Amino acid sequence: LNYCVPRTRKEIFETLVKGLRRLEYRGYDSAGIAVDSDKKTTTEDNSKIVLIKKKGKVKALDEELYTFVVIHNGIITNYKELKKYLNSKGYEFESETDTEVIPKLIKYVYDNREREDLSFSTLVERVIQQLEGAFALVFKSHYFPGEAVATRRGSPLLIGVRSKYELSAEHIPIQYNSGLFKEGVQDKNSHNRPDKPDNSTAVNSAGDGKAVEYYFASDASAIIEHTNKVIYLEDDDIAAVVGGKLSLHRLNSLAGENPVRAIQTLQMELQEIMKGNFEAFMQKEIFEQPESVFNTMRGRICFHTNKVILGGLKDHLKEIKRCRRLIVIGCGTSFHAAVATRQILEELTELPVMVELASDFLDRNTPVFRDDVCFYISQSGETADTLMALRYCKDRGALTVGVTNTVGSSISRDTDCGVHINAGPEIGVASTKAYTSQFVALIMFGLMMSEDRISLQPRRLEIINGLRILPDMIKKVLTLDNKIKSIADELYQQKSLLVMGRGFNYATCLEGALKIKEITYMHSEGILAGELKHGPLALIDKHMPVIMIIMKDACYTKCQNALQQVTARSGRPIILCCQDDQEMSKNAYKTIELPHTVDCLQGILSVIPLQLLSFHLAVLRGYDVDCPRNLAKSVTVE
Ligand code: G6P
Repeated sequence: LNYCVPRTRKEIFETLVKGLRRLEYRGYDSAGIAVDSDKKTTTEDNSKIVLIKKKGKVKALDEELYTFVVIHNGIITNYKELKKYLNSKGYEFESETDTEVIPKLIKYVYDNREREDLSFSTLVERVIQQLEGAFALVFKSHYFPGEAVATRRGSPLLIGVRSKYELSAEHIPIQYNSGLFKEGVQDKNSHNRPDKPDNSTAVNSAGDGKAVEYYFASDASAIIEHTNKVIYLEDDDIAAVVGGKLSLHRLNSLAGENPVRAIQTLQMELQEIMKGNFEAFMQKEIFEQPESVFNTMRGRICFHTNKVILGGLKDHLKEIKRCRRLIVIGCGTSFHAAVATRQILEELTELPVMVELASDFLDRNTPVFRDDVCFYISQSGETADTLMALRYCKDRGALTVGVTNTVGSSISRDTDCGVHINAGPEIGVASTKAYTSQFVALIMFGLMMSEDRISLQPRRLEIINGLRILPDMIKKVLTLDNKIKSIADELYQQKSLLVMGRGFNYATCLEGALKIKEITYMHSEGILAGELKHGPLALIDKHMPVIMIIMKDACYTKCQNALQQVTARSGRPIILCCQDDQEMSKNAYKTIELPHTVDCLQGILSVIPLQLLSFHLAVLRGYDVDCPRNLAKSVTVE
């Protein structure tokens, strides 16, 4: 926060710490803040910067003075070489972190500037030319009082802009180095590409900077209570605040190069990132699903004409229809959304559909062609492996489509077109509402692709009717919470939990097991019931807890066979089934009975009891549901 309006130091500290707390969910293990010294209330040298560092959660604050201070998110992969070099030049290190090479390196460049009058941002440019890896960086220095310089490569970084005036052209004190800033409004219905000049208004005058504050943050939830105006930085953008004025330029920019960065107006509300009456964000997000899936569909499905229009894709539809195959790529839960919808996408698009874990896709150097269409599914839009897979396919000329929950994210900017799932901010590390919204978005894509296929109309109609009542169905599933809690009471001391199913619900098994692993630390496996006899059956005895998903669809009989196999080995599974299934309820199994919907949508309903179960298990086992050990919400490194 580079402050230009009078504020007490306390207010500034509170603002920064609050912002950092909002980012804690992302799984950091240390944090720090740095501000200029308080000119009014201290007698210290005005040019000094106060640094407060925290290890772990907010525990201890040490006050110290540093020459160059750096905030870093990401990883510097060549830090060992840099450290060795700097050591050889007499620079000493206090920690084992990769980050420490950055302030030391900038000090080295500064000390060796040989009478050149280098600006702060030029120093930063020289430093980042030496860095490899991923980083979002903000620099302060006592040599440059009142200045801050920020840059990024690979890790997200945005600038919040707050003014007591309406932010109009006259009041935004931006100094234009080599480009224009533009102002635009986030369009929730289309794939937003803030760096594109269309539908934006040019801002082209500089104010005096007296009444504007700038906030640097990795994501908007850190700053949303102060401003909803943000500028998303691109890789190798360098933003400098000097004397209250913001300027932006590109690393090694050539004369005449004009980067255009939009000032976006975010639609996010503060309350969207507050827990309210819930015990955890994850719980809140599970219970939000009737609204979040509704928001994914809002304005996109016409229930009278049965038309589905995804604004961010419509201009590319012809090209997509001509492709040779669809490749759907993601990590973790986002990958499971691809698995969940693969079958219906094959049916509705009549194209071969490959689903790929981004890391494995890259490891295999998978052949990709110009007539492939590649989808990138990502809640954050920043996952490093998914982003690399995107670059890989772009290089090979494929059409790229983003499906993200984060407007302005790297994936939504770097793809040719896409869909925002509009689920609202997801804070819990274990993804829940993003999964069901990704699921719905991919199904809507299938519906859009099949609009003129006469033979598919009855099927389309069935699905569209299912989507219409989906939010109500989800509400009904959520009423099972108490029952699921009582099942958790019986299971929470177990070491292991298997989840079995097939067909449209195989993905539910994978996703349910992932939720259980992530937040309860129990061993859990999602098992394809068709593979039971090829290994997993050996695990079954009367002690092994098993959940079986048996829905009334084309795999029903096969799932019943699997059930017999399990019970014949003294297994006592808990069964997730349809509430109109007499067969299941008449037997003495423990059942969780769900409303019955269209086969390809059933997975949206069947995953919710598993989300709830993992939540209750984690609470009973005494774990922090929103911040599971060793995991991060956004994995921005390989
Ligand atoms: C991390 C998160 C998961 C998430 C995965 C992919 O592992 O903990 O919840 O599913 O990343 O994230 P993305 O933002 O790309 O969907």
